Amino acid sequence: MTLEKDAVLKNSDNRLLEQAAQVLEERRKLGLEGLTGDLAFIMIQTEADRHEAAAAELLRYTGHDLVDAFVCGEEKTFVLRHPASADILVRTGRPGPNPFAEINSHPKSAHLPNTRLETLVFHCRDIEAYRDAQLERGVQFLTDEIQEWGPCRFLQSRPSPYTGNSVGVVEFLGDTGRYRGDACADLPSSLSKPETPWAKAVSTLDHIATRVRAEHRDPAILEYMGLTNYSFAFAIYVPELNSITNVARCGTARFAQVFTSGISVSGSGEGEGPTEAFVRNYGARVHHMAFLTEQIGEMDPALRRDGLEFLSDLVGSEEDGIRQSFSAPSPNTLLVNEYIQRFGDFDGFFTQKNVTLLTEASGRQ
Ligand SMILES: [Fe+2]
Repeated sequence: MTLEKDAVLKNSDNRLLEQAAQVLEERRKLGLEGLTGDLAFIMIQTEADRHEAAAAELLRYTGHDLVDAFVCGEEKTFVLRHPASADILVRTGRPGPNPFAEINSHPKSAHLPNTRLETLVFHCRDIEAYRDAQLERGVQFLTDEIQEWGPCRFLQSRPSPYTGNSVGVVEFLGDTGRYRGDACADLPSSLSKPETPWAKAVSTLDHIATRVRAEHRDPAILEYMGLTNYSFAFAIYVPELNSITNVARCGTARFAQVFTSGISVSGSGEGEGPTEAFVRNYGARVHHMAFLTEQIGEMDPALRRDGLEFLSDLVGSEEDGIRQSFSAPSPNTLLVNEYIQRFGDFDGFFTQKNVTLLTEASGRQ
């Protein structure tokens, strides 16, 4: 039986585009349009005994530097920054139960029950207006009240039933990028950024790719559109791998969100493909963080010589407009790093050939 005949669901852009138009209309009606903007920071949660190793690895293999380390109660935070990018907060020791526990308990993720890139946090210019409009839409937040962190105000959604991710918003009261409240203390740590040939060559967090089940592609994208100022931009189908890579963008924001899903769900499980297999093994979650560079030709081999393992070769070319590679997943965060360089006026995320090679390579994890 072929997958096509056996399919119990098949994704198509027509249905998604119709529903996306309705979400945009709702956003306008409720005054949400333009209330939030680009990605401000992401929060990666780790196990307590891997917290420092996770931050050390990010310091070594990205262009982000350590700008703060603090502890509030039991919760420890490293703040990593590159001036052209969203910040990365690496945390452990969350007080209270883990709202992500269920989505973290899959065959290849259950050994790290607290580990996940949990939250994508966007700039918001009026967090109260945002909360009120989202409550009207029926959105449930993790806390009833807006969290007062001191230098900023913060609110986050409950983990999505489709992506396992939470969307947060932040309103900075003074300087952008200050997170530490008065009750926090310095976190003693010997961490620092090592000097490497690529330390200054890796820059912006360009996009994050989240993998979801085929049947959750549309609701995942629509939910994300409702919580942010992003819109569905386009999708690339790779039928031979039963995979769709979907891109959501927001005006001139530098950050893009990518959703990868299966195309079809078959009754028999035949023709599953690497994307569906990933979700079965790890649960829906962020697969990779992509970092921009202008020197991938020199940097990629240097990273390999340094011992960073890779799932893929360096694929693409200057003529294609893009070159990119996937590292192996980190044992501390389960996250893959993508390194990406664009050439000329190419502003995409992959070519059809690259996305096929990269999706195929991710079948190895
Ligand atoms: Fe990517």
